[in-house]
Amino acid sequence: MGFPVNRPRRLRRNETMRRLVRENHLRVEDLVYPLFVTQGQGFRKEIESMPGVAQLSVDLAVEEAQKAAELGIPAVILFGIPAYKDETGSSAWAEDEAVQRAVREIKKTVPQLLVITDVCLCEYTSHGHCGLLQGQEVANDPTLELLARTALSHARAGADIVAPSDMMDGRVAAIRTMLDHHGYQDVAIMSYAVKYASAYYGPFREVAESAPQFGDRKAYQMDPANSREALKEVALDLEEGADIVMVKPALAYMDIIRQVKDAVVVPVAAYNVSGEYTMIKAAARLGWIDEKRIVLETMLGFKRAGADIILTYHALDVAKWLKEGY
Ligand code: PBG
Ligand code: ZN
Repeated sequence: MGFPVNRPRRLRRNETMRRLVRENHLRVEDLVYPLFVTQGQGFRKEIESMPGVAQLSVDLAVEEAQKAAELGIPAVILFGIPAYKDETGSSAWAEDEAVQRAVREIKKTVPQLLVITDVCLCEYTSHGHCGLLQGQEVANDPTLELLARTALSHARAGADIVAPSDMMDGRVAAIRTMLDHHGYQDVAIMSYAVKYASAYYGPFREVAESAPQFGDRKAYQMDPANSREALKEVALDLEEGADIVMVKPALAYMDIIRQVKDAVVVPVAAYNVSGEYTMIKAAARLGWIDEKRIVLETMLGFKRAGADIILTYHALDVAKWLKEGY
């Protein structure tokens, strides 16, 4: 009996060898840190299902953004809990709402940090849907103008990137046109191009107070059973002018991240959503998993799947661990 000629184990014998042949790398530059901003001063409301995540008043959000920048994280993404909600979600484009103020303050205090804003209406509408209602339905076309107005208010405040997450058809074009028309040609669009109707958003809706008051989002967000449709959504958003495309959620959709990566030449982002974060936090709290190793392995998985950018609530921890050299 002969010896095996090929022995893959030769390249795994020690850490230096493994470093030499490593195919994918997780870097602090890959991370985007989500923040939830609201009114008040010195206000911090922790959310039980998302340990470490809180609604923050603008002053505290600035401090949190500073921490991210000091760790080398290139960007934050802002979500808002507004002072009031109405049928049309008009607080979404109010100049003095939390998101607009937070953008101005963060850009003033930490100018090198990129500020991304989530563009949607669900946090701002009394019914909690992502667009204008006509009867029980979310009306696509009338919503476009409101999303564009919202994106414009973020650009005026100084946002570097706007990120529409509503899943209306044609929103990227509507936003691009509005921004260009007002002189914001250089504000980039990261579209939530591939956004599935997912149970993984549950904890987020608690933090953002954005759960739909009736029904669900299945008539506008994608069916989890579909993958070819993801490529159609991506192609449309790129035609309309998206600069970065996102896949969301991430963990149960690694195949989609890979397919999108292979189909496009723009950066691909993956959103490691609230429910994914919560599952790890809960199991870690029970002592059932090693949080640090699980998180780093998960992040590396996103990289291997093809993500160039990872939006994650673990961002500060990951940045610290990377700094320590794990
Ligand atoms: C708003 C929005 C949602 C998320 C990001 N933007 C929730 C939703 O669509 O209901 C989810 C993020 C997360 O779960 O972490 N449209
Ligand atoms: Zn929404």
